Amino acid sequence: MKFPKMSSRSCSELEQRESWDGSPLVKYCGCWLQVMLFRPVLAAQKHFKAKSTDILLSTMPKSGTTWLKALTFSIANRNVFPIDQTPLLTSTPHMLVPFLELNVYWEQDNPDLENIPSPRIFSTHMHFELLPVSIRETDCRIIYICRNPLDQFVSHIQFLFRNKFGKDADPAAMDEAFEMYCQGIYSFGPFWDHILGYWNAHLENPGKVLFLKYEDLKEDITSQVKKIAEFLGLPFSQEEEEQGLIDQISGLCSFESLRNLAVNKTGITLGVLKNSSFFRKGQVGDWANYLTPAMAERIKKLMDTKFEGSGLLF
Ligand code: A3P
Repeated sequence: MKFPKMSSRSCSELEQRESWDGSPLVKYCGCWLQVMLFRPVLAAQKHFKAKSTDILLSTMPKSGTTWLKALTFSIANRNVFPIDQTPLLTSTPHMLVPFLELNVYWEQDNPDLENIPSPRIFSTHMHFELLPVSIRETDCRIIYICRNPLDQFVSHIQFLFRNKFGKDADPAAMDEAFEMYCQGIYSFGPFWDHILGYWNAHLENPGKVLFLKYEDLKEDITSQVKKIAEFLGLPFSQEEEEQGLIDQISGLCSFESLRNLAVNKTGITLGVLKNSSFFRKGQVGDWANYLTPAMAERIKKLMDTKFEGSGLLF
């Protein structure tokens, strides 16, 4: 598995484009990043020192990040906090599991992370190839969740629209965003490289990278919660199962439960994003309400081409 060398180039020397919504993007090691994330990504690459007990949650935006954060936090801390006293009742999943590039390295190049109790749980939207090298070189574990790109695209554009304009995306903006999404010129795009990077890493080392699908969690949350716990080396004991702990964690982290908590209904995350906007519909197949058959066909063809031979099926 080869990692790119840290680039010392400045952002201005790299290819740049304007996103459909006017925000500037820069192409770094094959990944389109919002320009404002370039420095934090470099800082994370340079300074992050992974510990073998760390857990990293990786996702494309709108693939189930919030859900995975809540589940992993609950599974990993189940002996620290009883369910009825979990910090999830008073803090958003994003407050409990910070993003490397959007929180941890957002303001400081080299923050002190040593005193965070183990297991430290971080998240990222970075491509696998952009991850700090120490993440690969230690035994820390990576959990990736992907989502059908049709739903991920619709969820993302609705999220951006709700936060910027407070309503559903207008069809013209949707068309423009769609075109750029299909070209891969999209925040954290191309989606196929993002997904394949983690998929291949999972195939190469399944004990290090767990590959989950949003749709599988929707279909059978119990088996997926068990899978996460086993992957983390924290399997549920028979006693815990008999006590109904898996159901309690699944229930606490369900869409309805999290969405109805006061902390997730009000307030903002990352300075600008409404907490409530992280909980829209939580359904599989909502793309059919927004994309024309031709649009859907185009993404499906892209998926067929890009994922051909990978063994990855949606
Ligand atoms: P929709 O916009 O399709 O409703 P992310 O957490 O990566 O930002 O992804 C957000 C998407 O996950 C949104 O999808 C949101 O509604 C959904 N989601 C958030 N919490 C969820 C949960 N606990 N269970 C299922 N889906 C959830």
